[in-house]
Amino acid sequence: MTDMENKAVAYNVEQGVATLTMQSAPVNALSRAVRVGLIEGIEAALADDSVNAIVVTSSLPIFSGGADISEFSGGDLSPMLPEVLDKIENATKPVVAVLPGPAFGGGLEVALACHHRITFAGNKVGLPEVNLGILPGAGGTQRLPRLADVQTALSMIVTGRPTSVVKLPGVFDKISDKPEHLLDDTKQYLASLTESNAIKRTSEITLSMNEEVQGVFDAVTAQTKKASKGFFAPLKCIEAVKGAYTLAFEDGLKHEGKLFMACMNTPQARAQQHFFFAERAAGHVSDFDKSTPERSIEKVAIIGAGTMGGGIAMNFANAGIPVTMLELKPEALEKGLALIRKNYENSAKKGKLTQDQVESRMALLSGTTSYDDLSEVDLVIEAVFEKMEVKKTVFSTLDKVCKPGAILASNTSTLDIDEIATATSRPEDVIGLHFFSPANVMKLLEVVKADKTSSEVIKTCMKMAKRIKKVAVLVGVCFGFVGNRMIEPYGREANRLLLEGATPEQVDRVLTEFGMPMGPFTMGDMAGLDIGYYVRQSRQEYISHDPAYGAVADRLVEMGRNGLKTGRGAYNYEPGSRVPIPDPEVLEIAKQEANRLGVKQRSDISDEEILVRVMYTLINEGACILEEGIAAKSSDIDVIYVYGYGFPVYRGGPMQYADEVGLGTILDKLTTYRDQLGDYGKMWLQPSELLIKLAQENASFKNYSK
Ligand code: 3HC
Ligand code: NAI
Repeated sequence: MTDMENKAVAYNVEQGVATLTMQSAPVNALSRAVRVGLIEGIEAALADDSVNAIVVTSSLPIFSGGADISEFSGGDLSPMLPEVLDKIENATKPVVAVLPGPAFGGGLEVALACHHRITFAGNKVGLPEVNLGILPGAGGTQRLPRLADVQTALSMIVTGRPTSVVKLPGVFDKISDKPEHLLDDTKQYLASLTESNAIKRTSEITLSMNEEVQGVFDAVTAQTKKASKGFFAPLKCIEAVKGAYTLAFEDGLKHEGKLFMACMNTPQARAQQHFFFAERAAGHVSDFDKSTPERSIEKVAIIGAGTMGGGIAMNFANAGIPVTMLELKPEALEKGLALIRKNYENSAKKGKLTQDQVESRMALLSGTTSYDDLSEVDLVIEAVFEKMEVKKTVFSTLDKVCKPGAILASNTSTLDIDEIATATSRPEDVIGLHFFSPANVMKLLEVVKADKTSSEVIKTCMKMAKRIKKVAVLVGVCFGFVGNRMIEPYGREANRLLLEGATPEQVDRVLTEFGMPMGPFTMGDMAGLDIGYYVRQSRQEYISHDPAYGAVADRLVEMGRNGLKTGRGAYNYEPGSRVPIPDPEVLEIAKQEANRLGVKQRSDISDEEILVRVMYTLINEGACILEEGIAAKSSDIDVIYVYGYGFPVYRGGPMQYADEVGLGTILDKLTTYRDQLGDYGKMWLQPSELLIKLAQENASFKNYSK
């Protein structure tokens, strides 16, 4: 038996088998230390005459999470991964990859370069590089098609989705029924190797292009152009895989390498890699640490079974957590529960749930009109009307009936959680849990900490979010918190541009070309223009200095043009259709309002002006939020925008986009339009102090912390 010192990869020889065990927690990212360990292990095994076979495996529940993404920003990277794989594949003794858990990206590429692969039936593997704006760059686009069929290889590489190993019979030489059998099965497999089948190099398999394969490429290309509109990497993935069918293996690798670098050097790759870490960093908050106690959440209550209450309840039922829903009247309760059932039944019709699952989830939901039934719950989420007096009454009642230690949360979109907390004798247990609509679908959860919220409550809610499959971001109290506060300037500028002579379709086009799933006018029509109308009515102190604020939108609502639900809003809609149809009447209203308010209409509003005024003012508000400490880091804002508002992930979120454009440019353009727009510009387009400071220092939002 021989052992070698490498912390990242353990080396051990027993009964003629050298085992290279990756042990680099948490995910065996293929850092330089792991790559060196693999090369050293292979070399030692080849030099040792007592070794007949080599096993590459992992001591962790994962085989490997792929290349170390944190190394992508540079440093000494030798040996590079392709070099390691070359060494493995060209080994003159059989190399067997044994996967005790998932293999992703470079991790799967390591396995593909081995001569044999063994795993167990419940395992999954994938090539998710496309989600980082790149493509598999260590032979994945050349080796996977040689082992799997073209459709499977393309689908895995272009979508990045993990695939069950049982769907990859060509890739795995042995699939154990259970992970516990992996060791014995590996021994048996090794014993069964003969001289003729011991070394199977994937690179030696030849592929060629034919009509059928070309047909698959054409179909996948057409589908990808639609499904991945705006993304750079997916089409490059297809181009790379094509090389496997048209080029010799070595040339295919070179072709892949060139395309990999072309992807890596794009703003999209930087944005998507930023987002990978941003999403994970959202969970790292300074308000608590490992020693902070966590409360157990086994029973939940929701107050209000309306639009939000119902959706929120479904999240808990989906996670197997029982929910009691409280309403004012039994009819409202029945209506709420019936709607939840209808939603589940619809999922069952689409094959996403079985009828048994529908019933077991419904069985977790109960209704009441009595607060006495809430005495044992661990968490209450209030989702009643957006009125401070109503919320305070609810919280003061909860304070009386709930057990000590119960967390009292509000789903308010705008109201002051500190003030709500004053209705209780336990402000440390009060927190905001701001779900997004539809709450059973949207992944974002803004966790709003009030002045007195305890770190224990914050920690419990952040952890609970994971259980119900939400991405939680911790924010502070202010009107609209982070997401809705930033959407205000976005909507304001869009409406002002309409008043100044732009058309809804021009504004919407600029924003959809930017990558937003829909423009602000289509979004307003979908949400209902009356919602914004009532917000404006309630925020007179904020907007009264601008008599033209929301003028056109107000007129539309007063004419009954409330959006999609009334068939008319900023656009017209055919009955049953969501396709916006431009309406000259809207432009006429804008003209009349402009005349009434003394606003000069212009026909020369450029696309650039629209983007700067709508998007850069949103970013500017993000800077204010950072400056005030409402968000702890700019990446948190990015996570909120990607998950809550459909901001294109290939731009990484608004703050990453701003960093990419350069804060100097953002500041210059914002200042230019502020100056051009006279009094209006002074009112609303004033760059924030933080933006000015960072731009002057040539710094970025990313590196800013308060
Ligand atoms: N590189 C660097 N760090 C990584 C990493 C990677 N490939 N994968 C995960 N991590 C880090 C995370 O940032 C996180 O760090 P933190 O605790 O400090 O926040 C930690 O590992 C744990 O990650 P998760 O919280 O995501 O753990 P999960 O258990 O929920 O998920 C996973 C594990 C499924 C492996 C998930 O982390 C994942 O999807 N990782 C990325 C997989 C990927 O995209 N691989 C391709 C990399 S690119 C490549 O291989 C290029 C090659 O073709 C040349
Ligand atoms: P909704 O009007 O659909 O539902 C409110 C429900 O609360 C109704 O069923 C009503 O009968 C019930 N209710 C009212 N007062 C009550 C009381 N005292 N006790 C028990 N039940 C009571 O409203 P929606 O849209 O669900 O909004 C609820 C809350 O969620 C609001 O605070 C809103 O700002 C917030 N929110 C709404 C979002 C949305 O897109 N609709 C998004 C995020 C938050």
